[in-house]
Amino acid sequence: MKLRLILSVILGSITLLALPVSAETPLLEELMRKYTFPFIFLQLLMVVLTVGYLYFTGLLPKAIFGAWQWLDERFALRKYVSFAKREYYSVVYTLLPASGRTMPQSHTERYNVKAVWYWYPFYSLGGLSFFAYIILAITGIYLGFYYVPDGDIYVDADGHATSGAYESMKLIMTQVSFGYIIRAIHHWAAHFMVASVFLHMMRVYFVGAYRNPREVNWILGVILLMVTIFFGFTGYILPWDELGFAAASIGLEMATSIPAMGPLMAQIVFGGTQITGDTVLRMYWLHIFVLPLIGTVLMIIHMALVWIQGEAEPH
Ligand code: HEM
Repeated sequence: MKLRLILSVILGSITLLALPVSAETPLLEELMRKYTFPFIFLQLLMVVLTVGYLYFTGLLPKAIFGAWQWLDERFALRKYVSFAKREYYSVVYTLLPASGRTMPQSHTERYNVKAVWYWYPFYSLGGLSFFAYIILAITGIYLGFYYVPDGDIYVDADGHATSGAYESMKLIMTQVSFGYIIRAIHHWAAHFMVASVFLHMMRVYFVGAYRNPREVNWILGVILLMVTIFFGFTGYILPWDELGFAAASIGLEMATSIPAMGPLMAQIVFGGTQITGDTVLRMYWLHIFVLPLIGTVLMIIHMALVWIQGEAEPH
Protein backbone atom coordinates (compact mmCIF):
# COMPACT_ATOMS: atom_id res chain seq x y z
CA MET A 1 0.00 0.00 0.00
CA LYS A 2 2.74 2.40 1.07
CA LEU A 3 4.83 1.46 -1.95
CA ARG A 4 1.87 2.20 -4.22
CA LEU A 5 1.48 5.60 -2.57
CA ILE A 6 5.17 6.45 -3.06
CA LEU A 7 5.05 5.26 -6.69
CA SER A 8 1.97 7.36 -7.44
CA VAL A 9 3.64 10.45 -5.91
CA ILE A 10 6.76 9.87 -8.08
CA LEU A 11 4.69 9.21 -11.22
CA GLY A 12 2.46 12.20 -10.44
CA SER A 13 5.50 14.47 -10.14
CA ILE A 14 6.90 13.21 -13.44
CA THR A 15 3.55 13.82 -15.14
CA LEU A 16 3.40 17.33 -13.70
CA LEU A 17 6.91 18.03 -14.98
CA ALA A 18 5.87 16.90 -18.45
CA LEU A 19 2.80 19.15 -18.49
CA PRO A 20 2.91 21.97 -21.04
CA VAL A 21 3.71 25.43 -19.69
CA SER A 22 0.42 27.11 -18.91
CA ALA A 23 -0.52 30.57 -17.73
CA GLU A 24 -2.37 29.10 -14.73
CA THR A 25 -0.41 27.88 -11.75
CA PRO A 26 -1.41 24.32 -10.78
CA LEU A 27 -2.61 23.83 -7.22
CA LEU A 28 0.31 21.58 -6.24
CA GLU A 29 2.79 24.24 -7.31
CA GLU A 30 0.95 26.85 -5.27
CA LEU A 31 1.18 24.61 -2.20
CA MET A 32 4.83 23.82 -2.83
CA ARG A 33 5.69 27.50 -3.29
CA LYS A 34 4.17 28.29 0.09
CA TYR A 35 5.27 25.28 2.11
CA THR A 36 8.45 23.86 0.53
CA PHE A 37 10.93 25.40 2.94
CA PRO A 38 8.91 24.89 6.17
CA PHE A 39 8.34 21.33 4.96
CA ILE A 40 12.04 20.68 4.30
CA PHE A 41 12.91 22.25 7.66
CA LEU A 42 10.34 20.04 9.47
CA GLN A 43 11.67 16.92 7.74
CA LEU A 44 15.25 17.74 8.68
CA LEU A 45 14.20 18.46 12.25
CA MET A 46 12.39 15.14 12.45
CA VAL A 47 15.40 13.26 11.08
CA VAL A 48 17.73 14.97 13.60
CA LEU A 49 15.32 14.32 16.51
CA THR A 50 14.79 10.67 15.54
CA VAL A 51 18.53 9.95 15.11
CA GLY A 52 19.26 11.87 18.35
CA TYR A 53 16.64 9.87 20.24
CA LEU A 54 17.94 6.56 18.88
CA TYR A 55 21.52 7.55 19.65
CA PHE A 56 20.96 8.67 23.23
CA THR A 57 18.74 5.71 24.11
CA GLY A 58 21.37 3.34 22.69
CA LEU A 59 18.85 2.02 20.16
CA LEU A 60 20.74 3.23 17.08
CA PRO A 61 22.80 0.07 16.37
CA LYS A 62 19.69 -2.03 17.01
CA ALA A 63 17.64 0.11 14.58
CA ILE A 64 20.31 -0.03 11.86
CA PHE A 65 20.76 -3.78 12.27
CA GLY A 66 16.97 -4.29 12.33
CA ALA A 67 16.49 -2.28 9.12
CA TRP A 68 19.32 -4.16 7.41
CA GLN A 69 17.86 -7.52 8.52
CA TRP A 70 14.40 -6.51 7.25
CA LEU A 71 15.75 -5.51 3.85
CA ASP A 72 18.06 -8.53 3.64
CA GLU A 73 15.19 -10.97 4.25
CA ARG A 74 13.19 -9.42 1.43
CA PHE A 75 15.85 -8.52 -1.15
CA ALA A 76 18.75 -10.92 -0.34
CA LEU A 77 20.96 -7.82 0.02
CA ARG A 78 23.91 -9.58 1.64
CA LYS A 79 24.30 -11.82 -1.41
CA TYR A 80 24.23 -8.89 -3.86
CA VAL A 81 26.46 -6.65 -1.74
CA SER A 82 29.19 -9.29 -1.50
CA PHE A 83 28.81 -10.04 -5.23
CA ALA A 84 29.05 -6.30 -6.06
CA LYS A 85 32.06 -5.94 -3.77
CA ARG A 86 33.85 -8.88 -5.43
CA GLU A 87 33.11 -7.48 -8.89
CA TYR A 88 34.15 -3.97 -7.83
CA TYR A 89 37.57 -5.12 -6.67
CA SER A 90 38.21 -7.35 -9.67
CA VAL A 91 37.05 -4.97 -12.41
CA VAL A 92 40.39 -3.37 -13.26
CA TYR A 93 42.27 -6.61 -12.89
CA THR A 94 39.92 -8.32 -15.36
CA LEU A 95 40.11 -5.49 -17.90
CA LEU A 96 43.83 -4.80 -17.55
CA PRO A 97 45.47 -7.87 -16.00
CA ALA A 98 48.96 -6.47 -16.78
CA SER A 99 48.31 -3.49 -14.52
CA GLY A 100 48.07 -5.80 -11.52
CA ARG A 101 45.73 -3.22 -10.01
CA THR A 102 42.40 -3.54 -8.28
CA MET A 103 39.96 -0.82 -7.29
CA PRO A 104 41.26 1.08 -4.26
CA GLN A 105 40.16 -0.07 -0.85
CA SER A 106 39.28 2.39 1.82
CA HIS A 107 41.74 2.87 4.68
CA THR A 108 39.36 1.02 7.02
CA GLU A 109 39.12 -1.95 4.65
CA ARG A 110 42.83 -2.16 3.90
CA TYR A 111 43.92 -2.17 7.54
CA ASN A 112 40.76 -3.81 8.84
CA VAL A 113 40.35 -0.87 11.21
CA LYS A 114 37.54 -1.42 13.67
CA ALA A 115 37.33 2.11 15.07
CA VAL A 116 36.15 5.18 13.17
CA TRP A 117 38.67 8.00 12.93
CA TYR A 118 36.91 11.30 13.47
CA TRP A 119 38.41 12.85 10.35
CA TYR A 120 36.99 10.22 7.99
CA PRO A 121 33.78 12.14 7.23
CA PHE A 122 35.95 14.93 5.77
CA TYR A 123 37.22 12.44 3.18
CA SER A 124 33.76 12.54 1.61
CA LEU A 125 34.07 16.23 0.67
CA GLY A 126 35.61 15.57 -2.78
CA GLY A 127 32.81 13.12 -3.53
CA LEU A 128 30.24 15.61 -2.26
CA SER A 129 31.71 18.30 -4.56
CA PHE A 130 31.25 15.91 -7.47
CA PHE A 131 27.71 15.07 -6.33
CA ALA A 132 26.85 18.80 -6.24
CA TYR A 133 28.32 19.11 -9.74
CA ILE A 134 26.00 16.35 -11.04
CA ILE A 135 22.97 18.03 -9.42
CA LEU A 136 24.03 21.33 -11.02
CA ALA A 137 24.34 19.67 -14.42
CA ILE A 138 20.88 18.09 -14.21
CA THR A 139 19.09 21.21 -12.93
CA GLY A 140 21.11 23.35 -15.35
CA ILE A 141 19.89 21.29 -18.31
CA TYR A 142 16.30 21.91 -17.20
CA LEU A 143 16.89 25.67 -16.83
CA GLY A 144 18.57 25.70 -20.24
CA PHE A 145 15.29 24.66 -21.89
CA TYR A 146 13.76 28.02 -20.95
CA TYR A 147 16.59 30.50 -20.41
CA VAL A 148 17.28 33.00 -23.24
CA PRO A 149 20.82 34.49 -23.30
CA ASP A 150 19.72 37.87 -24.65
CA GLY A 151 21.10 40.84 -22.72
CA ASP A 152 19.85 43.66 -25.00
CA ILE A 153 17.85 46.12 -22.90
CA TYR A 154 14.46 47.35 -24.14
CA VAL A 155 11.49 49.08 -22.53
CA ASP A 156 8.43 46.87 -22.04
CA ALA A 157 4.74 47.89 -22.34
CA ASP A 158 4.70 49.06 -18.68
CA GLY A 159 7.68 51.34 -19.27
CA HIS A 160 10.17 49.12 -17.40
CA ALA A 161 13.63 48.45 -18.77
CA THR A 162 14.04 44.70 -19.28
CA SER A 163 15.76 42.12 -21.49
CA GLY A 164 15.11 38.72 -23.04
CA ALA A 165 17.32 37.12 -20.37
CA TYR A 166 15.44 38.74 -17.48
CA GLU A 167 12.04 37.94 -19.02
CA SER A 168 13.03 34.29 -19.42
CA MET A 169 14.00 34.18 -15.73
CA LYS A 170 10.58 35.59 -14.86
CA LEU A 171 9.01 32.87 -17.00
CA ILE A 172 11.02 30.19 -15.17
CA MET A 173 9.98 31.60 -11.78
CA THR A 174 6.28 32.02 -12.50
CA GLN A 175 5.14 29.85 -15.40
CA VAL A 176 7.41 26.86 -15.91
CA SER A 177 6.36 23.74 -13.99
CA PHE A 178 8.67 23.42 -10.97
CA GLY A 179 10.86 26.13 -12.56
CA TYR A 180 11.32 28.10 -9.37
CA ILE A 181 12.24 25.02 -7.35
CA ILE A 182 14.67 23.72 -9.99
CA ARG A 183 16.25 27.19 -10.01
CA ALA A 184 16.43 27.17 -6.20
CA ILE A 185 18.12 23.75 -6.24
CA HIS A 186 20.60 25.02 -8.86
CA HIS A 187 21.28 28.10 -6.72
CA TRP A 188 21.83 26.20 -3.44
CA ALA A 189 23.80 23.38 -5.06
CA ALA A 190 26.16 26.06 -6.43
CA HIS A 191 26.67 27.44 -2.90
CA PHE A 192 27.11 23.92 -1.59
CA MET A 193 29.70 23.09 -4.24
CA VAL A 194 31.83 26.19 -3.58
CA ALA A 195 31.80 25.41 0.16
CA SER A 196 32.53 21.70 -0.22
CA VAL A 197 35.34 22.23 -2.77
CA PHE A 198 36.96 24.73 -0.41
CA LEU A 199 36.57 22.43 2.64
CA HIS A 200 37.87 19.50 0.55
CA MET A 201 40.98 21.56 -0.20
CA MET A 202 41.39 22.29 3.53
CA ARG A 203 41.08 18.56 4.33
CA VAL A 204 43.72 17.73 1.71
CA TYR A 205 45.97 20.44 3.15
CA PHE A 206 45.58 19.49 6.83
CA VAL A 207 46.20 15.76 6.34
CA GLY A 208 49.18 16.60 4.11
CA ALA A 209 47.71 14.74 1.11
CA TYR A 210 49.13 17.35 -1.32
CA ARG A 211 52.68 16.04 -0.84
CA ASN A 212 54.78 13.88 -3.15
CA PRO A 213 53.51 12.10 -5.29
CA ARG A 214 50.18 14.02 -5.32
CA GLU A 215 51.46 17.47 -6.38
CA VAL A 216 49.86 17.18 -9.82
CA ASN A 217 46.49 16.44 -8.26
CA TRP A 218 46.87 19.44 -5.95
CA ILE A 219 47.56 21.69 -8.96
CA LEU A 220 44.61 20.18 -10.85
CA GLY A 221 42.58 20.87 -7.70
CA VAL A 222 43.63 24.52 -7.66
CA ILE A 223 42.46 24.85 -11.29
CA LEU A 224 39.20 23.08 -10.34
CA LEU A 225 38.68 25.56 -7.50
CA MET A 226 39.09 28.42 -9.99
CA VAL A 227 36.71 26.70 -12.42
CA THR A 228 34.16 26.33 -9.59
CA ILE A 229 34.41 30.02 -8.64
CA PHE A 230 34.21 31.07 -12.27
CA PHE A 231 31.12 28.89 -12.69
CA GLY A 232 29.55 30.83 -9.82
CA PHE A 233 30.55 34.19 -11.27
CA THR A 234 29.28 33.55 -14.80
CA GLY A 235 26.03 32.04 -13.46
CA TYR A 236 25.43 35.04 -11.18
CA ILE A 237 25.40 37.34 -14.20
CA LEU A 238 22.96 35.30 -16.32
CA PRO A 239 19.60 36.53 -14.83
CA TRP A 240 20.72 40.00 -15.99
CA ASP A 241 19.12 41.68 -12.97
CA GLU A 242 20.76 44.53 -11.06
CA LEU A 243 22.98 42.16 -9.08
CA GLY A 244 24.13 40.42 -12.26
CA PHE A 245 24.82 43.74 -13.95
CA ALA A 246 26.79 44.98 -10.91
CA ALA A 247 28.81 41.74 -10.78
CA ALA A 248 29.59 42.05 -14.49
CA SER A 249 30.78 45.66 -13.98
CA ILE A 250 33.08 44.65 -11.10
CA GLY A 251 34.43 41.69 -13.10
CA LEU A 252 35.09 43.88 -16.12
CA GLU A 253 36.92 46.45 -13.96
CA MET A 254 39.04 43.68 -12.49
CA ALA A 255 39.86 42.24 -15.91
CA THR A 256 40.74 45.64 -17.45
CA SER A 257 42.93 46.57 -14.48
CA ILE A 258 45.36 43.71 -15.29
CA PRO A 259 48.56 45.45 -16.48
CA ALA A 260 49.26 45.31 -20.23
CA MET A 261 46.85 42.52 -21.13
CA GLY A 262 43.76 44.02 -19.41
CA PRO A 263 41.83 45.01 -22.57
CA LEU A 264 42.62 41.66 -24.18
CA MET A 265 41.36 39.77 -21.11
CA ALA A 266 38.19 41.92 -21.09
CA GLN A 267 37.72 41.11 -24.76
CA ILE A 268 38.14 37.37 -24.18
CA VAL A 269 36.04 37.06 -21.03
CA PHE A 270 33.42 39.81 -21.42
CA GLY A 271 33.25 40.24 -25.18
CA GLY A 272 34.52 43.85 -25.08
CA THR A 273 35.69 46.65 -22.79
CA GLN A 274 32.10 47.81 -22.21
CA ILE A 275 29.21 45.88 -20.68
CA THR A 276 26.70 45.19 -23.45
CA GLY A 277 24.09 42.59 -24.30
CA ASP A 278 26.94 40.52 -25.74
CA THR A 279 28.38 40.14 -22.23
CA VAL A 280 25.42 37.91 -21.32
CA LEU A 281 25.93 35.71 -24.37
CA ARG A 282 29.62 35.37 -23.53
CA MET A 283 28.87 34.49 -19.88
CA TYR A 284 26.26 31.99 -21.06
CA TRP A 285 28.64 30.20 -23.40
CA LEU A 286 31.33 30.07 -20.71
CA HIS A 287 28.78 28.83 -18.16
CA ILE A 288 27.10 26.13 -20.23
CA PHE A 289 29.90 24.97 -22.53
CA VAL A 290 33.48 26.06 -21.85
CA LEU A 291 33.52 25.61 -18.06
CA PRO A 292 31.55 22.33 -18.04
CA LEU A 293 33.94 20.96 -20.67
CA ILE A 294 37.12 21.99 -18.81
CA GLY A 295 35.59 21.11 -15.41
CA THR A 296 34.36 17.65 -16.43
CA VAL A 297 37.64 16.68 -18.10
CA LEU A 298 39.71 17.90 -15.13
CA MET A 299 37.44 16.22 -12.59
CA ILE A 300 37.74 12.91 -14.44
CA ILE A 301 41.57 13.20 -14.50
CA HIS A 302 41.58 14.35 -10.84
CA MET A 303 39.51 11.39 -9.66
CA ALA A 304 41.35 8.94 -11.94
CA LEU A 305 44.60 10.05 -10.28
CA VAL A 306 43.09 9.38 -6.83
CA TRP A 307 42.14 5.95 -8.10
CA ILE A 308 45.62 5.28 -9.53
CA GLN A 309 47.56 6.65 -6.55
CA GLY A 310 45.15 5.59 -3.83
CA GLU A 311 44.14 7.75 -0.89
CA ALA A 312 47.03 9.33 0.99
CA GLU A 313 47.69 8.14 4.51
CA PRO A 314 47.39 10.99 7.01
CA HIS A 315 50.83 12.55 7.64
C1 HEM B 1 35.44 20.35 -8.50
C2 HEM B 1 36.23 20.21 -7.51
C3 HEM B 1 36.80 18.91 -6.96
C4 HEM B 1 36.31 17.61 -7.02
C5 HEM B 1 35.01 17.14 -7.68
C6 HEM B 1 37.27 16.77 -6.34
C7 HEM B 1 37.12 15.39 -6.15
C8 HEM B 1 37.98 14.63 -5.39
C9 HEM B 1 37.70 13.29 -4.91
C10 HEM B 1 36.39 12.52 -5.15
C11 HEM B 1 38.80 12.86 -4.21
C12 HEM B 1 38.92 11.53 -3.45
C13 HEM B 1 39.09 11.78 -1.94
C14 HEM B 1 38.13 12.72 -1.30
O1 HEM B 1 36.96 12.75 -1.68
O2 HEM B 1 38.56 13.49 -0.41
C15 HEM B 1 39.80 13.91 -4.30
C16 HEM B 1 41.08 13.85 -3.76
C17 HEM B 1 42.02 14.86 -3.84
N1 HEM B 1 41.79 16.17 -4.20
FE1 HEM B 1 40.05 16.85 -5.03
N2 HEM B 1 38.30 17.54 -5.91
C18 HEM B 1 38.05 18.85 -6.24
C19 HEM B 1 38.83 19.97 -5.93
C20 HEM B 1 40.10 19.91 -5.32
C21 HEM B 1 40.86 21.05 -4.87
C22 HEM B 1 40.38 22.49 -4.94
C23 HEM B 1 42.07 20.56 -4.41
C24 HEM B 1 43.26 21.31 -3.88
C25 HEM B 1 43.66 22.47 -4.26
C26 HEM B 1 42.05 19.11 -4.56
C27 HEM B 1 43.10 18.25 -4.27
C28 HEM B 1 42.97 16.89 -4.08
C29 HEM B 1 44.04 15.99 -3.68
C30 HEM B 1 45.52 16.37 -3.47
C31 HEM B 1 43.45 14.72 -3.53
C32 HEM B 1 44.15 13.43 -3.08
C33 HEM B 1 43.84 13.30 -1.59
C34 HEM B 1 44.26 12.02 -0.96
O3 HEM B 1 44.91 11.20 -1.62
O4 HEM B 1 43.95 11.85 0.24
N3 HEM B 1 40.83 18.75 -5.08
N4 HEM B 1 39.27 14.98 -5.00
